[in-house]
Amino acid sequence: MTLLTRRGLLKTAAVAGASGVGLAAIGRLDGWAAAAPEPVVLQTAKIQAQLMGIGPTRNVLTYGSAGMPPVLRMKKGEPFAARLVNAIDDPTTIHWHGIRLPNKMDGVPFLVQPYVYTGDHFDYAFTPPDAGTFWYHPHCNTLEQMGQGLTGVIVVENPNDPKFDAEFVLNLRDWRLGDDGQFIDQFRPRDAARTGTYGTVRTANWHDQPQYDAPAGGLVRLRVAITDVTRIYAFRVDGAEADVMALDGNPVPELFLPDALLLGPGQRMELAIRMPDEEGAIVSLRDVRGTKPKILTTLRAMGSSLRRDIRDVAPLEVNPVADVDLTSAQHISLALSATAENIPSNGICGSLGYGFWAINKVPWPGDTPDPTAPLAELKLGKSYVIDMENLTPQSHPMHLHGMSFKVLSSSTRPVQPLISDTYLIQPNEKVSLGFVADNLGDWLLHCHIIEHQKSGMTSYVRVV
Ligand code: C2O
Ligand code: CU
Repeated sequence: MTLLTRRGLLKTAAVAGASGVGLAAIGRLDGWAAAAPEPVVLQTAKIQAQLMGIGPTRNVLTYGSAGMPPVLRMKKGEPFAARLVNAIDDPTTIHWHGIRLPNKMDGVPFLVQPYVYTGDHFDYAFTPPDAGTFWYHPHCNTLEQMGQGLTGVIVVENPNDPKFDAEFVLNLRDWRLGDDGQFIDQFRPRDAARTGTYGTVRTANWHDQPQYDAPAGGLVRLRVAITDVTRIYAFRVDGAEADVMALDGNPVPELFLPDALLLGPGQRMELAIRMPDEEGAIVSLRDVRGTKPKILTTLRAMGSSLRRDIRDVAPLEVNPVADVDLTSAQHISLALSATAENIPSNGICGSLGYGFWAINKVPWPGDTPDPTAPLAELKLGKSYVIDMENLTPQSHPMHLHGMSFKVLSSSTRPVQPLISDTYLIQPNEKVSLGFVADNLGDWLLHCHIIEHQKSGMTSYVRVV
């Protein structure tokens, strides 16, 4: 990705730690935020959904029954609670991707919580410390469960967020459907050993190229989450001024234009878009990767122009993520490679029965009673740098649970010091990711191309 800085001057506000702590403290003093909130009920369901221009697709999975899993809204520094009720024929859990929370709430079966069997429930409760765009999904039989629909977006609001004239949330994903609109095999082994198996029908919010109306000349906040199991996108906006404000739930140090911005499964982007003045003008968000560029969604300018200026968008507040101390940081080397070792498919949450990938030469065996040892044991509060090298010809969106890292350097390109939970590492790239091990427990680290995750490219770190 190229970083085109539009306004080097407009930096994000560096008011991190103080505000996060302050907010929680005020909440507690007032008493209202500390009260246990009414849990949101997320009941898994099997439904029919209209995903193609023909009859409905059967066996679509969701939370609730109203189509796409709901966009969950939480508030930074305020307690959130959800009850997962499992009404499908398969054990499940929920992982809150990118949210720094207690290990027990992280939703990884076997490692941190029991499977939630059919008819059972599990209560999740945590207080999101960071504002931004996140998402949620199962962490059991993920290729099927996510592939068939169980991916939803989370917005963590900050009362100090800049004001926009409109906000839209986009859940981007594909479906593997045949010509009859019904699910076909979720993966092909030969593709799992390469880029992963692509879906056949591409959607935004479960629609093909939906259009939304926004005030002409107004400022729009567009939150985008890639919840697909395979696809990497290259984003571009046509027809309006647009800035990338945040990536993976954290403000970018310097705003830049989305000019074929590469983001992989699990990643999120927030755009500030200044709508055109003229009523009826169309702004489009496109994926320009590969040979078949695709318009993902369009925004239509409505009404008389509000005449806003994109430079009026106030910077987002930095999240209270501890800063890595590079002088004391211990380095952890991590090599991503291909392998030909076989992995038995014996876990309740399913491995694919193939081993194609490995981290430090170890292919993850799945949720077996005898999991592989952690990649590293980290000391609570200490700084670490993961030096990750990609020895494969594919790109991998590598996701760390439970802690946010800072992108320090890459061997192949200039990088911004982004705070993130998912890094899309390119072939032959070496990247250094720094973080403070400030969250106790076992935290998964895996590729978010689910076929890669499920055929070996998974491991974990232990913070003690
Ligand atoms: Cu988005 Cu381990 O997951
Ligand atoms: Cu991968």
